[in-house]
Amino acid sequence: MSNIARHIAIIMDGNGRWATERGLKRVKGHEKGAEVVRTLTTYASRHPEIEVLTLYAFSTENWKRPKMEVDFLMRLLKNYLEKETSTYLKNDVRFETIGDLSRFSKGLREQIAKTKEATRHCRKLTQVLALNYGAQDEIARAAQALCAGGREITVESLEQTVESAKFGPVDMLIRTGGEQRLSNFLLWQSAYAELFFTPTLWPDFTPEELETLIDEFKRRQRRFGGI
Ligand code: FPP
Repeated sequence: MSNIARHIAIIMDGNGRWATERGLKRVKGHEKGAEVVRTLTTYASRHPEIEVLTLYAFSTENWKRPKMEVDFLMRLLKNYLEKETSTYLKNDVRFETIGDLSRFSKGLREQIAKTKEATRHCRKLTQVLALNYGAQDEIARAAQALCAGGREITVESLEQTVESAKFGPVDMLIRTGGEQRLSNFLLWQSAYAELFFTPTLWPDFTPEELETLIDEFKRRQRRFGGI
């Protein structure tokens, strides 16, 4: 039986380089990156296998970037959600997040809540944006919650408690931009994920390349620790 690409997770890397290569400011790369998010999400919503698309949009480490770039990303995200809520609805895409939202501005948090509420009933695809997300933090928070509830910490109890639990295990984890590392993304859910690293910078990533990677995924043998 061939592998099913039910949950695809992507580390969207390379926006800054894409812009710098063209003599543009880094933020222009993020702008183009947001367009690719829209194209890929629309494509995934029409794909027969993909049910969940998790995108690493802002890591717990990204706060270290210059304030101007962080502010730009926050504005971009808020405008994107505002503008794209109709696209989510048109394509029957449910919007969700993982990560600690408490550090974001009230305005952004309100917009996130609005888009989640508006798309709650959508069923074709769940798009999960990882925002102020770090997997070690996610696992530590789950362990703390179990401890606080006087529950035992086991693989099963952690599996049910991590914030990303409801989206299920990752089948394909893709990183664009040429680096070959996980950067604290979905460590728990990717225990048996197939990994794909492409040199393509995120603003150049296309549905055609995603399809090529899915073809490769189909040819891989997943044994989940068995033989
Ligand atoms: C990595 O590129 C990308 C990010 C840190 C942010 C990801 C954001 C987007 C794709 C756009 C906004 C998203 C939404 C959902 C509206 P980098 O800046 O690290 O690139 P570099 O490695 O070339 O410097």
